Amino acid sequence: MIYAVGIGPGDPDMMPYKTVLLLKEADVISGFETVLRLADKHFNPNALQVSMGYKNQKEKLGEVGIYSREGKKCVVCFMGDVNFSGYEYLDRIHTDCQEPNPIIIPGISSAQMAASKTLTAFETSVFLTFHKRGDISEDKEFLVSALKQGKSAIVIPLPWDFMPAEISQFLLDRGIPHNTHVDVFEHLTWPEEKSYSGTLRECKEKFSDVSIMVISRKTSS
Ligand SMILES: C[S@@+](CC[C@H](N)C(=O)[O-])C[C@H]1O[C@@H](n2cnc3c(N)ncnc32)[C@H](O)[C@@H]1O
Repeated sequence: MIYAVGIGPGDPDMMPYKTVLLLKEADVISGFETVLRLADKHFNPNALQVSMGYKNQKEKLGEVGIYSREGKKCVVCFMGDVNFSGYEYLDRIHTDCQEPNPIIIPGISSAQMAASKTLTAFETSVFLTFHKRGDISEDKEFLVSALKQGKSAIVIPLPWDFMPAEISQFLLDRGIPHNTHVDVFEHLTWPEEKSYSGTLRECKEKFSDVSIMVISRKTSS
């Protein structure tokens, strides 16, 4: 069996109890090395860890699939919540692990943390990720139209081509008011957490690849 679990935004204490129990009981724990290191406080010390990077993910997930078919309890760790910007990796569990039905355990997303920090109600917002393979032009148009309809937007940038500064400039070029309020959060819940708060026009800073942006319905005077 393969469990696909969201380990939350980074602080290992912000994990569902169910996920903590699974990590304590797992035979095999897998995921990107950077993600595993955020959650390892809860790992079964005897579990086999199958860590990966972008280059060897196919081969490593293939190994996890074999362990699962041997009857081992396998847990694959996702950043944040599986259901926000996680489906490309989930697809790899289907194809590379050859597991069509992993059990998904949701986690706390960086989007939820960012919403809490900015008092952004989900029902007034749209969620977008540019952190994906392929063409993002439709997503860019969706963002413009959502903001024009008065929605807030919780946005994962695309390292390094469409980061907060480029997103802000794109929105200004598309007629979104320059005083639209923007928050950017870097490494939410990590010890080195950092944030920016200002307007679209002012948002020119460089941020790390672990950043999320909230573009607000509010305007600043
Ligand atoms: C592939 S997406 C996965 C998002 C994740 N599933 C979630 O729910 O937060 C990875 C991107 O999410 C954003 N992200 C994840 N955790 C974050 C955090 N703690 N603080 C800020 N941004 C974060 C970053 O932009 C990162 O590059």
